[in-house]
Amino acid sequence: MGAGGDPAEGGIIEVPNPSAAMAKKSGKPLAELQRGHEVYMLQCGQCHRYKLPQDLDIDEWQTAVPKMIGHAGLERVDEKAVLGYVVAVKMERGEE
Ligand code: HEC
Repeated sequence: MGAGGDPAEGGIIEVPNPSAAMAKKSGKPLAELQRGHEVYMLQCGQCHRYKLPQDLDIDEWQTAVPKMIGHAGLERVDEKAVLGYVVAVKMERGEE
């Protein structure tokens, strides 16, 4: 599926822009998902290729994101936003 390829290419479809429908389904504010998406795009491909929402289960994301926030030197509010975003993408795809 191109997930192992150039993140700039595969990235758009695999990590979609948050939508109102996504926000509604996940129960998160759209602004929080947008922040999560932004932080994800800026930070999460720096040390390794992007880990896509589909690559991990929700409980694995819940373990991984706090560690990564520490690695990246980000704040709690970003942890919440990134986690909310990847979970929202999975929920919208029926992967929860
Ligand atoms: C400063 C470097 C760095 C940044 C920035 C970073 N990571 Fe990581 N990531 C790592 C390292 C190192 C590992 C190897 C496992 C570990 O350290 O726990 C890893 C592993 C992972 C894993 C696999 C964890 C597992 O349990 O299999 C995921 C998922 C992940 N990163 C997601 C992210 C996300 C999402 C972000 C953005 C918030 C991010 N990473 C930003 C360094 C980084």
